[in-house]
Amino acid sequence: MESSAKARGTGIARRPPEYVAEKMEQGKAVIAVTTSGEWVGFCYIENWSHGEYVANSGLIVAPAYRKSGVAKSIKHKIFNLSREKYPDAKIFGLTTGLAVMKINSDLGYEPVTYSELTQDDAFWEGCKSCVNYETLMSKERQNCFCTAMLYDPKDHYKPEETKEFFEKNKKGFERLLRLKQWKLFKKKENNGTGNGNSKPKSFLFHLFNL
Ligand SMILES: CC(C)(COP(=O)(O)OP(=O)(O)OC[C@H]1O[C@@H](n2cnc3c(N)ncnc32)[C@H](O)[C@@H]1OP(=O)(O)O)[C@@H](O)C(=O)NCCC(=O)NCCS
Repeated sequence: MESSAKARGTGIARRPPEYVAEKMEQGKAVIAVTTSGEWVGFCYIENWSHGEYVANSGLIVAPAYRKSGVAKSIKHKIFNLSREKYPDAKIFGLTTGLAVMKINSDLGYEPVTYSELTQDDAFWEGCKSCVNYETLMSKERQNCFCTAMLYDPKDHYKPEETKEFFEKNKKGFERLLRLKQWKLFKKKENNGTGNGNSKPKSFLFHLFNL
């Protein structure tokens, strides 16, 4: 996971192997394998704020098996497992990728601001090992390179609605992901001062807290 994040130039909240092993032992992971036992993909469950929030983390598919629906299938399985284990928990994810945004939208997740995520320090501590941690802290944990998405079991749109919303706004999301990278990099270069550039702000712009 770490080398994959490095290769795509994004950060990652690094977890020790023992932590990930424990998730497997506790039945809080989905592992995809071929019939001959070759590893294909992985994802695991974390819970925060005393079970109020659940995150489906560490999604990865082996390069040879990408673009054939494996991630989609893993995410569906881990989502159902999370709902089974923590029926009242809000399920959230942080991602820098459009593919994951798409899969999440198919499941009923909606993009949210960071203020709607767990405020459990232990969760954010995990970001310490990410190369973008300084940016996250300079924004007082309100924004970073990752996009936040949430499924609230008590108050959520139907998956058909979030799916439609994603499809309609896909191009905008793509542009905003790029813009976000550019803007945050610029802030880094300017040592956190920004350039005061004021373009007309759309709904999506506000959502991304730019
Ligand atoms: C992101 C990743 C998990 C996707 O795995 P995958 O098995 O190739 O994904 P799927 O085939 O299930 O694709 C799911 C959807 O995303 C789309 N998609 C896949 N890769 C994409 C990409 N790079 N850009 C845009 N869309 C993409 C697919 O077309 C598919 O859409 P569809 O349902 O309309 O067909 C995989 O590329 C990976 O492991 N990357 C490195 C680790 C990573 O980025 N993890 C996510 C951290 S949040």
